[in-house]
Amino acid sequence: MPDVIHLDTDRTSYIFATLATGQLEHLYYGPRLRHMDDYEPLRQKNDVPYGTMVNCSQSHKNIGLDDQCLEYSGLGKGDFREPAVELVFADGSRTTDFRYVSHRSFQGRPEIDGLPSALDAGASTTEVTLRDDEKHMTLLLYYCVYARHDVITRFAALRNDSETAVRVQRLMSAQLDLFGGSWRLITFDGCWAYERERHDKPLEPGIYVNDSKTGNSSNRHNPFVMLAADGCDELSGECYASNLVYSGNHVEMVEVTYQGKIRLVTGINPSGFEWLLEPGQSLPTPEAVMSFAADGFNGLSHTLHRFTAECIVRGHWQTRVRPILINNWEATEFDFDTKKLMALAREAASLGIELFVLDDGWFGHRDDDTSSLGDWKVNEKKLPGGIAELSARIRALGLDFGIWVEPEMISEDSELYRAHPDWAVSVPDRRPAYGRNQFVLDMSRPEVRAWLIEAMSSVFSSGTVSYVKWDMNRNMSDAYSRALPPDRQGEFHHRYILGLYEVLGELVRRFPRVLFESCAYGGNRFDLGMLCYMPQAWTSDDTDAFARLSIQGGTSYGYPQSVMGAHVSASPNMQTLRAATIETRFNVAAFGLLGYELDLTMLSSFDKKAIAAQIAFYKEHRQLLQFGQFWRVPNRLDDDKTLWAVVSSDGREAVVGLFQGAARVGRGQDIITVPGLDPMASFSVTGRTQYLNVRAFGNLVNRVLPIRIRGDGIVHTVLSSHYLFKMAEEAYVANGDLLSAYGIKLLQQFSGTGYNEQVRIFSDYGSRLYTMRAIDDGVRLSSAVSSASRSSSR
Ligand code: DGJ
Repeated sequence: MPDVIHLDTDRTSYIFATLATGQLEHLYYGPRLRHMDDYEPLRQKNDVPYGTMVNCSQSHKNIGLDDQCLEYSGLGKGDFREPAVELVFADGSRTTDFRYVSHRSFQGRPEIDGLPSALDAGASTTEVTLRDDEKHMTLLLYYCVYARHDVITRFAALRNDSETAVRVQRLMSAQLDLFGGSWRLITFDGCWAYERERHDKPLEPGIYVNDSKTGNSSNRHNPFVMLAADGCDELSGECYASNLVYSGNHVEMVEVTYQGKIRLVTGINPSGFEWLLEPGQSLPTPEAVMSFAADGFNGLSHTLHRFTAECIVRGHWQTRVRPILINNWEATEFDFDTKKLMALAREAASLGIELFVLDDGWFGHRDDDTSSLGDWKVNEKKLPGGIAELSARIRALGLDFGIWVEPEMISEDSELYRAHPDWAVSVPDRRPAYGRNQFVLDMSRPEVRAWLIEAMSSVFSSGTVSYVKWDMNRNMSDAYSRALPPDRQGEFHHRYILGLYEVLGELVRRFPRVLFESCAYGGNRFDLGMLCYMPQAWTSDDTDAFARLSIQGGTSYGYPQSVMGAHVSASPNMQTLRAATIETRFNVAAFGLLGYELDLTMLSSFDKKAIAAQIAFYKEHRQLLQFGQFWRVPNRLDDDKTLWAVVSSDGREAVVGLFQGAARVGRGQDIITVPGLDPMASFSVTGRTQYLNVRAFGNLVNRVLPIRIRGDGIVHTVLSSHYLFKMAEEAYVANGDLLSAYGIKLLQQFSGTGYNEQVRIFSDYGSRLYTMRAIDDGVRLSSAVSSASRSSSR
């Protein structure tokens, strides 16, 4: 019997041991504990059997695996819950029985063959060897401990030491059994243009499945899930996180038994999966990232944000601030030429934008989405002189140049398809299924990968390309590879992802300075696997500011703002037709990697001035906005409003966003609270200078202007384009302890009873940013709130 294995991070402990029957018993995962001489208090007591028990050993009649917390379960031997491993042996049997053999711990962490994994970052590893003696199978369980990050990552590898092939039908990355209690499963679900909305499921006896079968990690159910104890909220309570460093079909299954034991398993989705493991071969799983926090969802998010930024994202861009970009997609879609692009680029440069991104439609004869994917040669009719000339002209304006590609796809109408129809994923003798008029390239084939690496290398070297948007716009159905034998078709999806990772690994190696942004119909493959190659991802095709509060807010539970692309687009919005002011569109996008995606050549002079000021503001606070600690702050007074904050690591600087949905009279008193500030410092709090377009006031404009004009007349239109009506100026001084523990009572919001310079106009989807900067530490203000903007005459 081994010693108990007790792993520690700075704030958590993870403990397991061996059962008398040889399996690994999970003892504890929670707040850090001191090491003990005797772990008996943590062991489940098995002094009498339970009804309907099946015991795996007659020498231990009181141990039934079905009611134990285990580290990694198989099928059979009396555990009837969802297993972590499921095999079919040559004789057709499916029972497995993995028992402890040995373990070793070492500094560092192993890489996982063919799969991306977290960086070393000072991790230490415990490797546990289990063996099924009767079937000659070896199972290695890995626990990589990131002490400073409060994260433990897990993965497994199965080795076939027998003389016959074994069919692997399930091999999970990790299993977490909890002893009991009242928990919620929290998942992040959605669809195209509404990704990662938070859903809470109170756990009752039964089986809950969060999965994807679309060939990618999917917008339906992200692989990131949480388990939250009763009462856990944003600022307090116990919760666990589980995520996968994987971009393909995944499953997170939670089974709750009637006795109240809870099991979470996560890994490659067994649905449609079967891997033929030949004698002597090993199969490793993707890595699972696990964490525990006792300080609520924000606490857990902070751990995951830091881990993602420091241990998942890597390379040249890991810690560098990201450029502000203009993307031509929502401005032009496929309808562009050099003239149009240059006009857009000139406006962008004059506003302070740093990177021009040429989106879909620059190659083959792609004027809509029916053709040319695979023909990665420039369309000279649209862009004479090609990418080299366009990128040179754009760079001459002082902008960097970036390009869109969708490498994993093939159009039926393409030279590539005509030359290699068998490279498209489809089932022989069946009519193919289409998605956005296109097929998926079979990335499990080495010759496809080799071709793709060269095709992309040639695009990325044509001209000076400093950014690449790697898109992927269809789900994989009718999975089949013409290069795999029938008994290996169950390997297709996983081999596709292994192939994708091989291609990405090589391209990132060849182009280490290029900033890659992952995209899949917006957020259809937003996961830690892609982030190991690409430092950022396009969060959603929905650029509507109000919808983005939910999309970016939901995403923020598991992923930092430093990986979330967020663009200001036109109003009304292309996806929702909702109108929002240019200021709100910026205020939401500012909590991500800022870009503009609208026709800048059509802007009013008002919008141009507002955008130039926004860009200057973003540049000034960019380090903080992109890399500061992000908080979802519960709004004390108004559940309908959203409050976000980013706080610097020393707690001496913050930017806070207050966002409103539909305006309501009677809810006009707001308090902004900012957790995490230095309690001993005093802060100067200032509302960002924001402008209102007087066009929105209609005839009411006459109430705020010294002259009388018609609400819908020409004078109003001309005036609204040029006149910058300032939002009420807000400036306060307050101590850090007050701001964190309670907050500042803001100026009243407009609610129809009167207007003066001390009233904050906040209509539907209104918003405001506030900056907070520590001033002299010695200043200790005794008053709760001191508003510098309130004149003594008030
Ligand atoms: C889907 C992406 O999410 C969009 O941003 C855009 O790049 C289109 N594809 C282009 O086809």
